[in-house]
Amino acid sequence: MTTITRPAGTVSVRVPAKINLQLSVGPLRADGYHDVVTVYHAVALFDEITVSAADRTSVEVTGEGVASVPLGPTNLAVKAAAALAKATGRRSRSVSGGSSGRGSSVGSSGRGAAGGSGRSSFRGSSAGGSGGSSPRGSTAVKIEIRKRIPVAAGLAGGSADAAATLVACNELWRTGLSPSELAEIAANLGSDVPFALAGGTAVGLGRGEQLTTALAAGSYDWVLAFGATGLATPDVYAACDRLRAARKSGDGVPAATPPELSTELMAALRTGDPAEVGPLLSNDLQPAALSLQPLLRRALAAGKEHGALGAVVSGSGPTCAFLASDADAASELAVGITGAGVCRAVVQVTGPAPGACLVDSGIAT
Ligand code: C5P
Repeated sequence: MTTITRPAGTVSVRVPAKINLQLSVGPLRADGYHDVVTVYHAVALFDEITVSAADRTSVEVTGEGVASVPLGPTNLAVKAAAALAKATGRRSRSVSGGSSGRGSSVGSSGRGAAGGSGRSSFRGSSAGGSGGSSPRGSTAVKIEIRKRIPVAAGLAGGSADAAATLVACNELWRTGLSPSELAEIAANLGSDVPFALAGGTAVGLGRGEQLTTALAAGSYDWVLAFGATGLATPDVYAACDRLRAARKSGDGVPAATPPELSTELMAALRTGDPAEVGPLLSNDLQPAALSLQPLLRRALAAGKEHGALGAVVSGSGPTCAFLASDADAASELAVGITGAGVCRAVVQVTGPAPGACLVDSGIAT
């Protein structure tokens, strides 16, 4: 058995990707969001975040799609550390250098190295935004993100990293916040962040941040097909609004009706039978994602052709999720979809997976 020993004062957290088994989208709200009814399902594809006390806040990203991970203050993990620091009233000491981050990222414009996988980093001011000179009691942290969840893929990878950073800093700083207090901070960071904390299978209302655990039995075998390029969530919601507006002016049908939870899907999830669940997967954002990346149609078709029980774009896409009857069927499906040449890569995963949890802590007890 291999034991990984972390240096004292570091905390590591593992956090899953999510797919949406149902995503029903209501009309555009005045605040720019849409009311949704969604069924989140965490899958065993994990990012790992390690935080440690530091003189200055820095982010280092390795792994899948680092080129597209924002570095510096716009990184959601940095925002998560800052939000936790603020909520718990941690001191942030001023140091010379002021509040703007000093990017030392590889490449330009605060992003990482070119290429799908690699390493990039940023060093800036304290997470609190006003500098931090002392590891003890300061808000400055070194955040290391090991990515396996693709970026801008509809799998809530950025939200997952934010959730993991909340859990890690909560432990590092011994703030003692409860899960519900962390969930409240998470909801302000992004609609999908509370679910990354919770994991499992859950119904999300409001923007998606109001969670109720779903009564779901069994475990499910999935194949995820990753797109060649990402899709930005706001672009996909905007495309959804445009498609609905065009439809409304065409046939007089209301652009969007209030979303409702699928009682059929909830009943199917209680049986634990993938053959019941597969045909009930649904996503109101799918037509919008397909309009932006027409190749996704071929990916969905290839999955069905190779025996998927259900095929759906996950969230805002472009990842397509395919449900299989068991692990062997998922392996065959993965081979078939790979052979069809309609996506960048496929992975086989199971769900539900647990939410953000500590994997290691070098904190003395
Ligand atoms: O909550 P989050 O920051 O992840 O949302 C990103 C963007 O996705 C929002 O700015 C909005 O454009 C869109 N969105 C939405 N309705 C939701 C969730 C997200 O319109 N329920």
